[in-house]
Amino acid sequence: MCGIVGYVGPRDSQAILLSGLARLEYRGYDSAGIAVIDREGDLDMRKRAGKLQVLRDDLTAHPMADGTTGIGHTRWATHGGPTDVNAHPHLADDGKLAVIHNGIIENFAELKAELLAEGYTFRSETDTEVAAVLLGREFAASHDLVAAFRAVVARLEGAFTLLAMHQDQPGLVVGARRNSPLVIGLGEGENFLGSDVAAFVEHTRNALAIGQDQIVAITPQGVEVTDFAGGTVEVEPFEVVWDASAAEKGGWSSFMAKEVSEEPEAVANTLRGRLHEGAVVIPELDGLDDLFLGINRVIVVACGTAAYAGMVGKYALEQWTRVPVDVELAHEFRYRDPVIGPDTLVVSISQSGETMDTLMAVKYAREQGAKTLSICNTQGATIPRESDAIVYTHAGPEVAVASTKAFVAQITALYLLALHIGRVRGSLATEVARDAVAQLEAVPAGIARVLETEQEHIEQFARWMGDTQSVLFLGRHVGYPIALEGALKLKELAYIHAEGFAAGELKHGPIALIEPGQAVFVIVPSPRASRELHKKVVSNIQEIRARGARVIAVAEEGDAAVLPFADEVLRIPLAGPLFEPLLAVVPLHIFAMGLATAKGLDVDQPRNLAKSVTVE
Ligand code: F6R
Repeated sequence: MCGIVGYVGPRDSQAILLSGLARLEYRGYDSAGIAVIDREGDLDMRKRAGKLQVLRDDLTAHPMADGTTGIGHTRWATHGGPTDVNAHPHLADDGKLAVIHNGIIENFAELKAELLAEGYTFRSETDTEVAAVLLGREFAASHDLVAAFRAVVARLEGAFTLLAMHQDQPGLVVGARRNSPLVIGLGEGENFLGSDVAAFVEHTRNALAIGQDQIVAITPQGVEVTDFAGGTVEVEPFEVVWDASAAEKGGWSSFMAKEVSEEPEAVANTLRGRLHEGAVVIPELDGLDDLFLGINRVIVVACGTAAYAGMVGKYALEQWTRVPVDVELAHEFRYRDPVIGPDTLVVSISQSGETMDTLMAVKYAREQGAKTLSICNTQGATIPRESDAIVYTHAGPEVAVASTKAFVAQITALYLLALHIGRVRGSLATEVARDAVAQLEAVPAGIARVLETEQEHIEQFARWMGDTQSVLFLGRHVGYPIALEGALKLKELAYIHAEGFAAGELKHGPIALIEPGQAVFVIVPSPRASRELHKKVVSNIQEIRARGARVIAVAEEGDAAVLPFADEVLRIPLAGPLFEPLLAVVPLHIFAMGLATAKGLDVDQPRNLAKSVTVE
C-alpha cells in the first residue's frame, strides 16, 4: 500500500526514483510523484494522478531539473481521492520541504485543526500534508531535519513510513517508520530507502532492515539509525537474494503470466535445501524445537489468498502433527479476544510480510504469550521480524498484484512445516514422512505438466467464456479452499461475480443459484485417493447438472467418471489427496488470467487493489 523510494548519491536521481517506483508500483497505482533537490539547490516536484506512466509522460513532455537527492511515491489512496493534488509528495507551506508517506495518520484531523488555528493552509485532503506542514514548522524552529522528524513522530498516531528532504539540507533524506515498511539499500557513495528491496535491488543487494519506531538519515557517505528518542540502535544487515532480473517482466505479456509459469519453480525453490534422505529438515528452525513441543493448538492467521493456503495447510498440519489447527482471517482474530497463551503456536502467512491485519494479529498473539512463526516471501519484511521463527517461501519476487506463485509456495512451506513439527513431536511415522516428501518432490513436475498440456486449452476456453457474468466454484476437503481461491482470483482479475462453496454445502442454500447455463467449476478429488469423496463430488455434479449448470470439472487424468456430466474437463496429473490442491489451483489461475485478458483488463494491476495492504 503505497510505494516509497529515496536516493542520495552522485547520480541524477530522477531515473533512479522512476525505476524504483516501477518496481514498487504493485503497492499502489492511483497516482505517482517525485521530488528532487536540483543542482541549484531548489526543490522541484512533479506528481500526477494515474499510473506511473502518466508521470513519466509528463516528465518527458515537460522535463524537470535533475539533482542528486530525491524521493518518489506511488499511491494507493486512503485520505482523499486519487487526484494530482492529493498525490505525493506534499510540501511544507514554504515549498522547501517535501514529504512522502505510506500508512494512515489517525490523529491527522486534530493536528490539522491545530495548524489551521496557527494560520497554516492546506492544498490537499490528505493526512500526509499535515505531516509535511508539521515538519516544516518544526524545521523552521531547529533547522535540523532529523530533530524535526523526532518532534513530529512524537505527535503522530497510526501507521506511517515517512520520508522527507529539505532544500536547505541537500544530500540528506530522512525516514521514519511505525507499523509500515522501510528498508535501507547500501551503495558505494550512495544510499537508498525503499518500501521493500525491489526499490533498489538493481543498484545494490546490501540492505539493512529498520525496526519499529526508528528514524533513519541517509547521506551519500553513510546511514544513521536512531530510535524515536534519539538513541542509537543496531540494525540488521542482510543480503538480498533476489536479483533484479527476477522482478522484470522478461518477454512475458504480463507479470502474472510470468509468475504463473514460475509456479513449478516456486515450489521447487521452497523445497530446496529442506529435504534430506526422505525427511524434512528446515535449517531455519534448528534449535527451536521448544516452539513445537509445548503446544496443544495451532492457529493460522492470514488474509485473502494466504488464508486459503492456510486452509489447505490445516489438513496436513492436523494429519501429520495431530495438533488441532484453526485458520482465521487475521483481521477477525485480533478483535474477538481469542483464548490463546504459551501453549498456542500462531502461524502467520504473508507473501509481502507487511499486511497490517496479519502483523497486528502476530503482535497481539505475542502479547498474549503465544509462540509465533511466520511464513513469508519477502526478506527484511516486518512480520517475520516480529515473529519467534521464520520459514521463508522462495517464490521470488511476486509483482502482479494478485497472488499466484506465492500461493503454491505457501502451501509447500506449510507442508514442510507440518512434516517438521510431526518429526519433532514424534507424531509422524517415517514411512508417512518419506511418502509425503516423495509426493512433494513430484509437485513441480506435476504443475509443469498442467501448464504444458492444459494452458492453451484453458486460455481458449476462457476466451470463449468472455461474456460470462457469474461463475461458481465447488470443492470438498482440500478442494474447498481451492474453490475459494479460484473464485477470488476471478473476482479480482476479471471483475465478475464469483463464489466458492464447499460442495457439501450446496444443498443448504447455494444450489438456489443454479439456473440453466450457470458456469460451475468443480474440483474433483482423486478417485484413487478417496473413492468416497470422489463419489460424493460426482453426485454433487449430477445435482447441479440436473438443474442446467454448465459444469467445468478439474479432474485427475484418467478419471472417466466425470465425463458424462461435465461440459469441459481440465486435467491434472495424479497426486495424493493432500497434494492435489497444488495442481488443481493452476487451471484456475490460468482461467482467471485468461478471462481477464480476454476482457482486455490489466491482469497485473486490477482496479482498486494494492499488493501490500499496510492499512487495517
Ligand atoms: C489475492 C491476494 C490477496 C493477498 C492478501 C494477503 O490474489 O493477493 O488476497 O493474498 O492481501 O497478502 P500477503 O500474503 O502479502 O499478506
